Amino acid sequence: MAKFFSLTVADIYKETADCAVVTFDVPADIQPDFQFKQGQYLTLRTHIGNQEVRRSYSLCSSPLEHKWQVAVKKIDGGLFSTFVNDKLQKGDTLEVMPPDGRFFKECAPQTAKNYIAFAAGSGITPILSIIKTHLGTEPNSTFKLFYLNRNVKSIVFKEEIELLKNKYFNRFEIYHFLTKEHRDIPLFNGRFTEDKLKTITSKIFDPKEIDDCFICGPESMIFLICDALVEAGMPKENVHFELFTTGNSAAQQQHANKVLEKKVEGTEVTIIDGGKEFHFTMSDEFDNILDGALSAGADLPFACKGGVCSTCRCKVIEGEAEMKINYALDESELARNFILSCQAVPMSKKLVVDFDV
Ligand code: FES
Repeated sequence: MAKFFSLTVADIYKETADCAVVTFDVPADIQPDFQFKQGQYLTLRTHIGNQEVRRSYSLCSSPLEHKWQVAVKKIDGGLFSTFVNDKLQKGDTLEVMPPDGRFFKECAPQTAKNYIAFAAGSGITPILSIIKTHLGTEPNSTFKLFYLNRNVKSIVFKEEIELLKNKYFNRFEIYHFLTKEHRDIPLFNGRFTEDKLKTITSKIFDPKEIDDCFICGPESMIFLICDALVEAGMPKENVHFELFTTGNSAAQQQHANKVLEKKVEGTEVTIIDGGKEFHFTMSDEFDNILDGALSAGADLPFACKGGVCSTCRCKVIEGEAEMKINYALDESELARNFILSCQAVPMSKKLVVDFDV
């Protein structure tokens, strides 16, 4: 079940001209529900006009800070992000789902690890939480951050990052890359490119000495960096990423169309959620299990509806479903029959999926 809690905005301020940072007051009695790992996100819900709107945002605070804070970048035409940046005030309430997400590695206080991270714009939010948590928990670990922004003014959390650099001055390094402001060293001008990544992986760190890499930004940047690191010798399983936008490529759209061509109509679906069963027949109107179930009256967890966040993850117990898009599940989850219900198209006459696993 989609479990939302009504939380009060304890503080809201503008980090940059178009990015608001919101801190929630989480009452002591529900704090056990809101325990989180660095890199996880909150799903927020409100009503704007007559429309229910929900979005997920990564926590930028660390669990070590005992604080629940997200950064919301205003997007052109973005209903929720405009509301947060222009209207939301201290003392208002929003409905918030407990933290979720798997963009983290467990901290290991006794070991000395070398981490790197790449972030673009507001992609810094989960990365900041990850950096604070690993450096704060692992006294012998190091972190290098490669951070891309338009110009100095648009750098989200610039001051906090500077403070971290001073606090962990021989364990944390930051390299700023700017697209709209000229710097003396050519490497730091403009986006990450194959050539720049070759320079970075040969002059700034040795990929063989890196334990884990975290990347958050647009898809094209993530895959470029991922490929460059693997080619430079980093095991793929040590490169972790979180998308914050999706623009489906032509190849992905083609794959989605192929999946839709095979859709079985009128599937009898059983949803197991909260220990209860919910039965419905897929209407031809919908192409994915989540939308079919919601329209039939089920109350299920979801946020992005774009195959990114994994809030809608469930497991196929009986029957078959194929996903149009999957940015969130890894191979081991696919092998265990997990699917993203917002992307899952029924491929059998009967389908049983379990949200409790
Ligand atoms: S709702 Fe985000 S992946 Fe399905």
